[in-house]
Amino acid sequence: MHAWLNALPKAELHLHLEGTLEPELLFALAERNKVALPWPDVESLRRAYAFHNLQEFLDLYYRGADVLRTEQDFYDLTWAYLKKCREQNVIHTEPFFDPQTHTDRGIPFETVLTGIEQALKDGREQLGISSGLILSFLRHLPEEAAQQTLDQALRFRHAFIAVGLDSSEKGHPPSKFQRVFDRARAEGFVAVAHAGEEGPPEYIWEALDLLKVKRIDHGVRAAEDPKLLERLIEEQIPLTVCPLSNVKLRVFKDMAEHNILKLLEMGVKVTVNSDDPAYFGGYVTENFMALHESLGMTREQAERLIQNSLDARLV
Ligand code: HPA
Ligand code: ZN
Repeated sequence: MHAWLNALPKAELHLHLEGTLEPELLFALAERNKVALPWPDVESLRRAYAFHNLQEFLDLYYRGADVLRTEQDFYDLTWAYLKKCREQNVIHTEPFFDPQTHTDRGIPFETVLTGIEQALKDGREQLGISSGLILSFLRHLPEEAAQQTLDQALRFRHAFIAVGLDSSEKGHPPSKFQRVFDRARAEGFVAVAHAGEEGPPEYIWEALDLLKVKRIDHGVRAAEDPKLLERLIEEQIPLTVCPLSNVKLRVFKDMAEHNILKLLEMGVKVTVNSDDPAYFGGYVTENFMALHESLGMTREQAERLIQNSLDARLV
């Protein structure tokens, strides 16, 4: 099953580039940039990857991202992910990056973007992997900060296909970002947003009605709201689900409780993605394998999940 899954041509639609920073690369970049780390070695860092919720993960994820300083660092990060895509036959990817994580530390927007953009270009030319970059706003920060980030981004508008919304969900509803999303859509960007990971179904409604998103990232809590499920099915709105992430962050107690195959069988357009693979224990193939091992996902179901991802591409 592993070899079969790995060989199928796949798309990935929910992936944070900062979340692909493997401990080995993190330590190498810390050394290259003379950044002191609170962990003595790779093994102790890996041991710290035990989370009880989204916020505990985010605290470590932002701490890890601090080793990313130069254009070359962002290139190396993105290139390492693209090589992984090739190993797993991911032929198309739409990664997120969080500019504010870097600009707030004094790294110029252009440094971040140029490194990522060059790697994605090399990925297209040398690895045959098509891609579209998504600029994601940090929802725990004020709306004004997102507006300023959009202002900066407009100078490089050719580099993105969409805007997204991530970071701490609870207490930061999509409605907080309605104006910046209005502006981004008016500028020609597609909208997507994380919603219904830890937050309630109401946040999914808001993402659809106020932010006018084309996909919901995560969205698994839609299962609590029959009317919402009806709408997702009726409009075939894709959910970019991340099974290993959901178990690591305790959205589900264990993989056997995950609802992705139930949603699939109800007719929801669910897809399988890795979110932050360096932190959650696997890339796309490992996410599919977990569904096979814990939920009995069949080959036919895997093929439908993969077709959903290919259909839900923005570019
Ligand atoms: N949820 C919210 N924000 C994030 C995530 C996530 O799973 N990963 C990286 N930023
Ligand atoms: Zn995510």
